[in-house]
Amino acid sequence: MRTIDVNLPGRAYQVQIGNGSLSKVAQTARAIGGTKASRAFVVVDTGVPTHFSNSLQKELESQGFAVCIAHITPSEKIKSIETYHRLLLEIASTGHTRVDPVIALGGGVVGDLAGFVAASYQRGVPVIQCPTTLLAMVDASVGGKTGFNLTVPNGENEPTIYKNLVGAFHQPSLVIADIDVLDSLDARYRRAGLAECVKHGMICKTIGSGHEKLMDWMSEHLDGIRSFDASTIEELVARNVALKATVVMGDEHESTDAKAGGRMLLNFGHTFGHAIETIAGLSPDASDPSLAPLHHGEAVALGMVAACHSSVAAGHCDSSIVQELENILQAIGLPTRVAGLPQTSEILDRMMRDKKTAGGSLRVILPIGRGKCTIVDSPDVNTIEAGIDSIRA
Ligand SMILES: NC(=O)c1ccc[n+]([C@@H]2O[C@H](COP(=O)([O-])OP(=O)(O)OC[C@H]3O[C@@H](n4cnc5c(N)ncnc54)[C@H](O)[C@@H]3O)[C@@H](O)[C@H]2O)c1
Repeated sequence: MRTIDVNLPGRAYQVQIGNGSLSKVAQTARAIGGTKASRAFVVVDTGVPTHFSNSLQKELESQGFAVCIAHITPSEKIKSIETYHRLLLEIASTGHTRVDPVIALGGGVVGDLAGFVAASYQRGVPVIQCPTTLLAMVDASVGGKTGFNLTVPNGENEPTIYKNLVGAFHQPSLVIADIDVLDSLDARYRRAGLAECVKHGMICKTIGSGHEKLMDWMSEHLDGIRSFDASTIEELVARNVALKATVVMGDEHESTDAKAGGRMLLNFGHTFGHAIETIAGLSPDASDPSLAPLHHGEAVALGMVAACHSSVAAGHCDSSIVQELENILQAIGLPTRVAGLPQTSEILDRMMRDKKTAGGSLRVILPIGRGKCTIVDSPDVNTIEAGIDSIRA
């Protein structure tokens, strides 16, 4: 078992990574809640094999919790105000009090929604994040970002989904990443999780603090990563969580300048990625449209490629950075080009509506060297368009 401390003043917590670590959730929930906690509201991802949620329920009950389980079948459409409302009604109906924990057992969608229920119900109750996808382990479960998407009618058939437009920072009391639970995760979601690891590699030198070699380590261990070798994956999760924890501890609320290593750096690839993630009909494989829509990690992979090409167009870095990124993404099996992108102006418009705009002007994270990125406010639109066009298949 590896433990990584997220030392935030007054909100310190641990990320526990290891095989079988889910068996510790109930005991730790009791320790966190003390004797007053009597209920646990568990939000379970329907993709997680039921024996994990059954054991969790039994162990919570043996610790004296009355357990209420709410199920979610994740998608970006389901990450909505309606699901949030349903969860609020369910938690309120149980008589859940401010000392009782919410427990999220699932991928990033479940973690974000359950986290926001915990952030807002009775102005905040404790949440324990139990991530069950690689992406949720290395990224979504750590750092306290919670929320849901907003679906906005646009006069056309398909309304536009704006990602994570509603939310709050609410740090978990504990994160438990049980590597065993990844056994059932399908190959496409494994690859999608690896996209966030590559993102961490692309910023590792800017973060510093001992994380500088993350990209080199991933390149050296690519075989074990691709074959999902258990001990390599545990090490990968630990290294990525450690980097994310460093960033979060330096800038909990994404407030400081990314040049100083702030949390905004973690948005590398995301302003481009969010703009295309929810476009219906985009497939990671041009020869198989049935794979549409893109998964979050696939959109991030494409977004990182677009950001790199923009950076080259703006003269911030040379093409060797693009090449290295595309090589590692392709080796993992992530897309670097996508067919059927709408007009560039539409994507630009979506990017402008992303939360990461500053005072109405665009803000992007662009690479400036190997493992180094920087924040760029109001970039030249031509260079952003060049980035978008670079990922057209
Ligand atoms: N809060 C943050 O800081 C943060 C960071 C990154 C991403 N996110 C969010 O995370 C979401 C993406 O998360 P995700 O990639 O985990 O996707 P997801 O939550 O949609 O889960 C992916 C799929 O895997 C299934 N699944 C989950 N665990 C499983 C398991 N152990 N075995 C088999 N199937 C399993 C789910 O049912 C789902 O079908 C996006 O909404 C994104 O915005 C949040």
